[in-house]
Formats: sequence, structure tokens, C-alpha cells
Amino acid sequence: MDKYAVIGSPIKHSLSPEIHRMFAAQTGQELEYTAIEVTIDTLFDSINRLAREGYKGLNITVPLKGIAWDMADNCNEASNRAQAVNTLKFEADGRRCGFNTDGIGFLRDLTVNHNVELQDKDILILGAGGAVRGILAPLIGTRPRSLTIANRTVEKCELLAEKFSDLAEIAACGYPALEGKQFDIIINGTAAGLHNEVPPLPDNILRTAGVSYDMMYGKEPTAFVKWGQQQNAALALDGLGMLVEQAAEAFKIWRNVSPNTAEVITALRAP
Ligand code: ATR
Repeated sequence: MDKYAVIGSPIKHSLSPEIHRMFAAQTGQELEYTAIEVTIDTLFDSINRLAREGYKGLNITVPLKGIAWDMADNCNEASNRAQAVNTLKFEADGRRCGFNTDGIGFLRDLTVNHNVELQDKDILILGAGGAVRGILAPLIGTRPRSLTIANRTVEKCELLAEKFSDLAEIAACGYPALEGKQFDIIINGTAAGLHNEVPPLPDNILRTAGVSYDMMYGKEPTAFVKWGQQQNAALALDGLGMLVEQAAEAFKIWRNVSPNTAEVITALRAP
């Protein structure tokens, strides 16, 4: 049976095995999918070992996506832009092809699952790490009216805006500079939620009928989902849909079949 795995650290609580097993059952694909604890120090050896053991592909998660991009033989355009690989496909000729499905997963969740229109909207993105880098190119492709990145460390988001300046003009600033501004869609790509925190945003920053999106997901509503609800967002979304959609895209790369994501999202939301 073909073997796949998600690797990262910590990996115990990953939902990926459950998601891929549901995809496999749904589409009649015979495969095995497990979660394997791999740290930065052991990444190189682990990938070589898993390839030798006959694994057909891997999902790569925090904190390994950037190094996996360095190590992959061929990387698609999305992963080169993101400088991160979240999906590896081991080809029969030994090549390890790198992909990044986070951006497309994010976009599908927002625009297809939740029918959120991005064209001509003012969009604010919070954070300037790998999570944000992964969604910038697909977001730019939707032709928003404006794109702003805010980050605690201002130089980091200025650098990121500069890196994507060939695709679009992106404003970059710190949180205090957001005072008095308003946006239609606010996306949280910071790690603040890990400490149950929300970046310091001024009141009234979300326009009426605006949408908040937390790229993180937890069993309980995340701090940023609660923030969105307090700001009367028309939709205060978390990252579960994105997680399932990026997995579906990886599944398609490996198996050439598109699973039904709605069914899986509903199953995972069930109490
Ligand atoms: P990832 O690759 O998962 O995006 P990262 O590269 O460590 O992770 O980036 C984490 C992001 O969350 C950064 O933008 C970070 O801000 P700094 O660049 O200023 O460090 C942001 N972040 C982390 N904790 C935060 C907090 N409590 N409030 C606001 N931003 C936070």
C-alpha cells in the first residue's frame, strides 16, 4: 500500500492523518498516512530514509517548510514565491518535487467555501512570517483594491512587501499606524494565537459587513475569531477550511483525484 506522512514538530495533534484517511476512504484510494515527529536537525536524514522506505510523498509542517524548500529538487512557482514547501512528491526517478498548497487552500476556503469576494476590497494581513508569505501571491491574484501588511517588527513586513513588489504595490506598517484606517477583510497570519493573544488592533478597523480570517484553527474558537465576533464581522472564520483545502490539493498532486472537502470539514467540525 502506498505510504504518505506529515512531518513536523510537534506533530502529535496534527489533523492531517485524519483528513487524508477520510479523503482516501471517500475516493476509494488505498493508502496509509501517518504523522512522524521530525525536527530541523533530523529533517535531511528523515526525508532520505522515508524515500528509501518507499514513501510516495510527505506533507511538511511547522517548523520545516522553509528548509524543505531548500532541499527539494524541483519546486513549483507557488513554493518558490512562498520560499516554503508543504508537500513533497517522491517521483519514481528519485526526484523530490516540492509544492506549496497553502495559498491555494486559503483562497479556496475564503472564496469558494465562504463566497467571499476579494476583488476591489481593502485587505489587511497581520504578520510577516512564513504563513503570510504563502498566501500573498494568490491574494494579489484576486486583484484587491489595496493590500496592507502590518507586523510587530516593521522591517520584516517592509521586506516582505518589497519581495512581492513585482506583483503588486503592498503597504507595510506597524500596528500603531493602523489607527483611523478601515479594511473589508482582515487576515491573521501571526503566531499571537498560540498565546491566546490578538495583535494590537484599533477599534473600528473592520468595516461594516467585513470579514475576519484566522489562519489558525483550534477546537475552541481562537482569540482572533472571538475578536472578529466582537467587531461584528459578517464572517469570523478560522483556518480549519484552509487546512482541509491545502490537504485536498496535496492529495490531488499525489493521487490525481480531488476529494470532497465539504464533507470532511463538516465531519471535523462535529462535536
Ligand atoms: P510562521 O512561519 O508560522 O508565520 P514566524 O515566521 O515565526 O512564523 O512568524 C510569526 C509571526 O507572528 C511574525 O509576524 C511575528 O511578529 P514579529 O515578526 O514581530 O516577531 C508574529 N507574532 C508572534 N507573536 C505575536 C504577538 N504576540 N503579537 C503580534 N504578532 C506576533
